[in-house]
Amino acid sequence: MVPLGNSLAAQSAVQGDVVVLGGGLIGTACAWRLAQRGHDVVLVDPAPGAGASYAAAGMLAPVSELHHGEEELLALCLLAAAGFADFASQVSEASGLPTGYRACGTLAVALDAGDRARLARVRAAQTALGLEVEALSGRQVRQLEPFLDPSVCGGTLVRGDHQVNPRELLAALRVAAERAGVRSVRALGEVLVHEGRAVGVGLAGGGELRASLVVLATGARAHEHVPVRPVKGQIIRLRMPAGEHVLQRTVRGLVRDREVYLVPREDGELVVGATSEERGFDESVTAGAVHELLRDAQTLVPAVAELELVEVLARCRPGSPDNLPLIGFGPVPGLLVAAGHYRNGVLLSGLTADAVAALVSGEQVAPEVAACDPGRFGLRAAAREEVGAR
Ligand code: GLY
Repeated sequence: MVPLGNSLAAQSAVQGDVVVLGGGLIGTACAWRLAQRGHDVVLVDPAPGAGASYAAAGMLAPVSELHHGEEELLALCLLAAAGFADFASQVSEASGLPTGYRACGTLAVALDAGDRARLARVRAAQTALGLEVEALSGRQVRQLEPFLDPSVCGGTLVRGDHQVNPRELLAALRVAAERAGVRSVRALGEVLVHEGRAVGVGLAGGGELRASLVVLATGARAHEHVPVRPVKGQIIRLRMPAGEHVLQRTVRGLVRDREVYLVPREDGELVVGATSEERGFDESVTAGAVHELLRDAQTLVPAVAELELVEVLARCRPGSPDNLPLIGFGPVPGLLVAAGHYRNGVLLSGLTADAVAALVSGEQVAPEVAACDPGRFGLRAAAREEVGAR
């Protein structure tokens, strides 16, 4: 954070009662919801939508992404999934643009007997938690997805895990936010602190935005203020020929104990991901990672070899110490954090925006959201203070 000090007298470029730092899915959704409630909102980002949101595959997959010991995260993600179709249709209605939301379900598949046993263990855990999953034989799996390799020996159908296109969703959110009155400033911003409270945002290259509230939604870049860290993901985009889609639904594969996912879009894009690497802020693409992702994808779906390779890129997910996001006031008064969404930023975008808008208005949030209070890390969670809604 930048102490305001002598720069207090500096001119503000734009004034708003809320400044949202970070123009990815989380920040843009927060800005939109706050503007809908009558706040005067400025969104600050040097390259909106160029971070983790740009790489994300867009799986809305609380059940398939279940990890042992993450029941609180599961509850949060189930809540978000239950509201996502409505969120997506509100974004579409407000913007006049599509979001690529598809209620297509997800198929988890196993290549060999060891993978099948692992899938069965996961399914037992999912079932014990009351989640809806169906065990399928290799033959049943191939009936659903005929392009899967004959050696795929079993699977789990998760009818409730869907997908959205994060790039389309963000483009639509930006229009919705703009129509709701959000103003955008393309600059790198830093939280300004004066006498122990956030009072606005300082802009690289000069200028300040004074505000009663700053919303910190800079993903892994929020690490200067809260305990988040970058978790690198390398991801590939392929193109399926028109009318020849090799998959109908999201496929999450286990290939000799390695994980790979394939997310087919209606427009023919096929997203293949992703690595998970602890390498700091490294966004380089490596030959080895691309090779392994394509090799595993091709092992599951041999026709992958014929598809056009459109894009490879790497971005950093914002990991938190317990994999739950940080949503709430802190660590200084005047600052509200919406960061640390790790593998679930797309799924949690609508829920986070609603939560942020509710917190700013002093409303109660659901227990699943209250569990995300940054105060759990010993950050001083400052109480809400008045933010003028018009
Ligand atoms: N949620 C998928 C990923 O983080 O790779």
